[in-house]
Amino acid sequence: MSPLLPAGPAAARIADLTYVIFGLAAVVFIVVESLLLFAVLRFRRAQVSSEPKQIYGNAPLEAVWTAVPALILAVLLAFTLRTMSAVAGPARAAPAQGAADAIQVIGHQWWWEVRYPGAQISTANEIHIAVGQPVHVDVSSTDVIHSFWVPQLQGKIDVIPGRINATWLQADRPGVYRGQCAEFCGDQHARMALLVVADPADQFSAWLEDQQQPAAPPTDPQAQQGVQVFARVGCITCHTIRWGSTGAGGTRGPDLTHVGNRRTLAAGTLPNTPGTMAGWIANPQALKPGSDMPNLNLNGDDLQALLALLEGLR
Ligand code: CUA
Repeated sequence: MSPLLPAGPAAARIADLTYVIFGLAAVVFIVVESLLLFAVLRFRRAQVSSEPKQIYGNAPLEAVWTAVPALILAVLLAFTLRTMSAVAGPARAAPAQGAADAIQVIGHQWWWEVRYPGAQISTANEIHIAVGQPVHVDVSSTDVIHSFWVPQLQGKIDVIPGRINATWLQADRPGVYRGQCAEFCGDQHARMALLVVADPADQFSAWLEDQQQPAAPPTDPQAQQGVQVFARVGCITCHTIRWGSTGAGGTRGPDLTHVGNRRTLAAGTLPNTPGTMAGWIANPQALKPGSDMPNLNLNGDDLQALLALLEGLR
């Protein structure tokens, strides 16, 4: 998660600006500290019998030490304005209407909802983009203020309830880039991470097509039982699984239609494996206290059935 390892054009400009500021600050530091050391050593009491010559009212000197910092700040301002304009980039244009180049990211306590309105899909804590393509991102929140930050791709943007802020993402090379909520938003702020998965265009298209498919009704008896459990114990009040044309469900928690394909659970809290999924369902409040996912106190049969269902949702 280092902004100094940029993987996209916006982050690259931010890294450039960081180096310019650091370089200029280093020069100022070295000059000031050298003068200070010089004065301390040269004018030690042991070596100086009388007071050194005073320079109060030296107009040229005062002009120089006013002009030099002003010049340094002017240079930094110019670099900063150039960077701001480059980083604002495509987000200024009207959002594109394509299936893949305009997405919505919605902050929740404590997870990220990711919608692809053009493709009519919703996923969670994982954004997929095509390498080299700028993606317009509208960010908003359903509860408190969060901050959307993927350091290797773009600067932070505030995620504010009742308001839509816009940013954009672009990755120059394939990879998985971790992002993190960057504004304290409650107990589990630290467990509000997300991944941006940048794939070559064809792999991205395959992912998008796959996500648009409804869930396949399970054929395995245990997973079929899981469908009943999912409705009976109340998962369905907060989560949706899209089965074909039907698929009403809750929207308070992540859409689970393709949950088996995701890399993490609970917004980056755990890797997504059958074991961690079981632990998460069995006792979410131990793993992420205060989250909306309740302890359901499932018996072993129900837990196994749910697991079989969820692991099959790929
Ligand atoms: Cu959301 Cu911190």
